[in-house]
Amino acid sequence: MSAADPASRIAAWQLQAGRHGLPWQRTRDPYRIWLSEIMLQQTQAATVIPYYQRFLERFPTVAALADAPADAVLQAWAGLGYYARARNLHRCAQAIRDRHAGQFPRSAAELESLPGIGRSTAAAIAAFAYGERAPILDGNVRRVLARYLALEGDPGTTAMMRALWTHAQAWLDRAPADLDMQAYTQGQMDLGATICTRSRPDCPRCPLSADCAARRLGLQDALPSPRARRAQARHHCWMLILECEGHLWLQRRPDAGIWGGLWALPTFDDRPALDAACARLPTAAESLQALAGVEHVFTHFRLLMQPARLQLPGPCAGIRLAQDSEPASLATQRPRNPAVIPAQAGESAWIPIARLREIGLPAPLSRLLLGLYPPACDLFSGA
Ligand code: ADE
Repeated sequence: MSAADPASRIAAWQLQAGRHGLPWQRTRDPYRIWLSEIMLQQTQAATVIPYYQRFLERFPTVAALADAPADAVLQAWAGLGYYARARNLHRCAQAIRDRHAGQFPRSAAELESLPGIGRSTAAAIAAFAYGERAPILDGNVRRVLARYLALEGDPGTTAMMRALWTHAQAWLDRAPADLDMQAYTQGQMDLGATICTRSRPDCPRCPLSADCAARRLGLQDALPSPRARRAQARHHCWMLILECEGHLWLQRRPDAGIWGGLWALPTFDDRPALDAACARLPTAAESLQALAGVEHVFTHFRLLMQPARLQLPGPCAGIRLAQDSEPASLATQRPRNPAVIPAQAGESAWIPIARLREIGLPAPLSRLLLGLYPPACDLFSGA
């Protein structure tokens, strides 16, 4: 086995020992493959499977997805995180409907011009759906290549990425013309996910171990070089659960920043800001009831949310909480530099509690509200 080129070895290994039977492996339909690749970008296969199946039941074709309201798409995505993926998914479906007569482009180069599809994802879709010989370079493949070649340095830098793309292309160039592109592409992903894992790689079972430079040098645990880690920031905010006649006052999050495009509770940097908003409402401030705090961990920071509940007497007319700007704690995923994201006034509305399941809510808020209003949201999936 070790005499063959690396790509052939990976393809042969995949057929024998890789993952089989994942729902997106049973199809050559580019819509289904594209959807799986987008969902899998930052999320593990086991988490994706139920979302993938529900999503396809709800939007069985790219046309159904393109024609759906953006809220329905965000709602089906809620819980998977990284919501820019869902917004781009919707835009991409609309671009296919409007610019490609409803048909997926058939080459990696054309796929890459669509919203939300980068070079590696375009290559994966083209390989799985059409057998195109295009290299991929997702996080797993970066690790496999960095070890195989014993490349030191942060694999995320531009210079390192350029070198890795060159090597990824070289593996394909060395492979025979009849390389099974589906098996090879899946094999690279499977190798990274099951054998050449971040910690404790299982070298004895690896099809590349005979000529892996990191293994030869005993560097498989040290490579790829870890990224310089910043201390994880911790942010606090207050969230107002404003109730009126079976409705909650919710605000749509601006596209830029966390939970972009989803509905969320009005959010304040601190208690005085919350109190100032509540003072404008037709109810006594002392009826504000603080609830247990909820912590949510994002990629770059932790957010401690302190919910507070307030009942308004009816009727529930339009209100203004008069926030002058976006609270800093929610303004951006890069809280060190909040000023670069302009404050945006989002859409606000009274949403019936019984219909919360029909809108896109971030998972931690979904869990919080489900816990508070279980009977009213009996069908509320809380994804
Ligand atoms: N991660 C990205 N694409 C994948 C795929 N097709 N199967 C399993 N994990 C993946």
